[in-house]
This record gives sequence, C-alpha cells and structure tokens, in this order.
Amino acid sequence: MAGLDQAVAAVAAAVEVELASILPEAEGPQARLHEAMRYVVLGGGKRLRAFLVAATAEMFSVRGLAPTRAGAAVELLHAYSLVHDDLPAMDDALLRRGKPACHVAFGEATAILAGDALQPLAFEVLARPDYGADAEQRCQLVRGLAASTGSLGMCGGQLLDLMAEKQGWGLEAIAAMQRLKTGALIRWSCEAGTVLGRAGTPEAAAVLDYADDLGLAYQIRDDLLDRGGAGIATGKDSGRDRTVGKATLVDLLGEAEAGRRLLELRDRAVRRLDIFGDRATLLIDLFSLVISRKS
Ligand code: IPE
Ligand code: IPE
Ligand code: MG
Ligand code: MG
Ligand code: MG
Repeated sequence: MAGLDQAVAAVAAAVEVELASILPEAEGPQARLHEAMRYVVLGGGKRLRAFLVAATAEMFSVRGLAPTRAGAAVELLHAYSLVHDDLPAMDDALLRRGKPACHVAFGEATAILAGDALQPLAFEVLARPDYGADAEQRCQLVRGLAASTGSLGMCGGQLLDLMAEKQGWGLEAIAAMQRLKTGALIRWSCEAGTVLGRAGTPEAAAVLDYADDLGLAYQIRDDLLDRGGAGIATGKDSGRDRTVGKATLVDLLGEAEAGRRLLELRDRAVRRLDIFGDRATLLIDLFSLVISRKS
C-alpha cells in the first residue's frame, strides 16, 4: 500500500502546516494555555481523521484548501477529546503520542482548559469564510461536527464507556458505545468530504455506511493493541483497559474472534463502496491499514 502511505503522509504534512497557523502562538497573558494547545495538537498523531476527509473529498474531485481545513478542524476536536480522555477523572493515562499526557506536562487545570479551548477553535475555523466552502456548506459542517461531538455523539459515548466498566455489557451495547465514542468523529470526517463534494444521496449514504463500520473497527483495533501491550508503538499506556475492566468487544469475544470481526467489517465496508469503482481505492486500502495498524 505504498500509494496509501504516501497519500497519508502528504495529507498529514498539509494538515500540520494548517494546524500550526491556526493555533495561537504561545505568547500573551495566556501563553501557557496556548503552549498546552500546541503541545497536544502539533507533531504527533496519525491524522487518520484528516485523511478520511481528504480521501472522501478526493472521490468527489474537491480541489483547494477546503479538505485540509476540515481535516484540521476534526484533528483539533479529536485532540481535545484525547486530552480529556487522559484526565485522572477519566482514563487516568500518563502517556499520549509518546509524550507525557497534557495534564502530566501542564497540570490538570490547564489540560481541562486546553481541551475546552481547542473545541471552539475547531468550530471557529470551520465557520471562517476563507477556505472555499460556501455559507451553506460551512453551516452543514459546523452543525454536523457539533452533533458528532455532543451528548449524542463522542461525549455521550465517553460517558457510556465509563459507565460500562466492570458491568458485563453485551455485544450490541458495547458496539453502540464504541460507535459513539470513536465512530462519531470518524463518521463526520467522511461526511465532511461528502458535504464539500456535494455528493448525491446514495453516494453520501454509501460513504457513511462505510464510515460506521470503520469507526467500530478502529476501536476494536485500538482495544487489541491496548491488550497486546503495544504501548511503545502506540505511544500510550497499555494494558490498562483490562486492569480497570473497560467494556471492549475484545474482552467479550476474545482476540481471535475480534480479529475475525475486523475482517467481516472490512468486507462489508468495501462492498458498500462498490458504486464508486476505482475511485474508492484509497478508502478501501485505508480500512485494511486501520485493522492491521500497529500504532
Ligand atoms: C485514539 O485515536 C483514540 C481512539 C479513538 C481509539 P488515534 O489512534 O487516531 O490517535 P492519534 O490521533 O493517531 O494519536
Ligand atoms: C477513545 O477510547 C476515546 C476517545 C473518544 C478520546 P480510548 O480511551 O480507548 O482511547 P485511547 O486508547 O486512550 O487513545
Ligand atoms: Mg477512554
Ligand atoms: Mg483512553
Ligand atoms: Mg484505547
């Protein structure tokens, strides 16, 4: 998948430049807050959500800055979710992207505020009129990202994740929780490409069905990596899901069956993209990358 690796690297580089210019410089009376925001956003992360925006937009021949801007917005939102996810009151994790977690490096209060400040920044940059999306598209992007982030999206999923610890939840309930906590932002990333590309209804629906399966697969792979002790490669604490009794499909089904589910999800997701023919190659290859990733 050399073509995919190159494409992911190119999107990551473009998004990094965009993020560096969007984020406030570490100066002024709030320099420490700005420093924390830059610390958590820049120089790390696979940027797979930004890549999803770009790859989907590419299927609809979108040109210009818009996919990079929307990709930067979702990466800001995602970074905020990670900062809060690592807090002592949530997953109590010490390591993120190979560095001390934000609250370890800057203290808990600054980490909370850095997350709080990254969130509105994501919406503000999507609302700006300077990147080639018209007013209606910008409104759709902002509204969709808000819904994906809120209590019926990522935040709601994060609450369910905490509630589910040691509760013996079944397959459907765990999958529903994971589709929210991880799937919602992944779904929005694909949705953004369809909004920018003015996709027709059947095409947009096919992409969103793909995204739903990808989101679930993404978290199953994350849970497998946590359990397999891949901490050095992932740059995160590992093994903690089991210690605290996180509800995961891997715990419920075992590693072998979880691995089979990943292949089933991939096959179904790929079929959903049949209508695009060769135009879907990047998204198809990306699914394989996500379910085999080591970091
Ligand atoms: C980590 O996401 C959190 C999950 C939803 C599993 P990523 O694995 O995409 O993290 P980065 O952005 O590459 O650090
Ligand atoms: C994803 O779940 C959480 C978010 C929505 C931020 P995890 O708690 O498993 O993510 P990691 O393993 O800490 O990256
Ligand atoms: Mg968590
Ligand atoms: Mg976590
Ligand atoms: Mg995890």
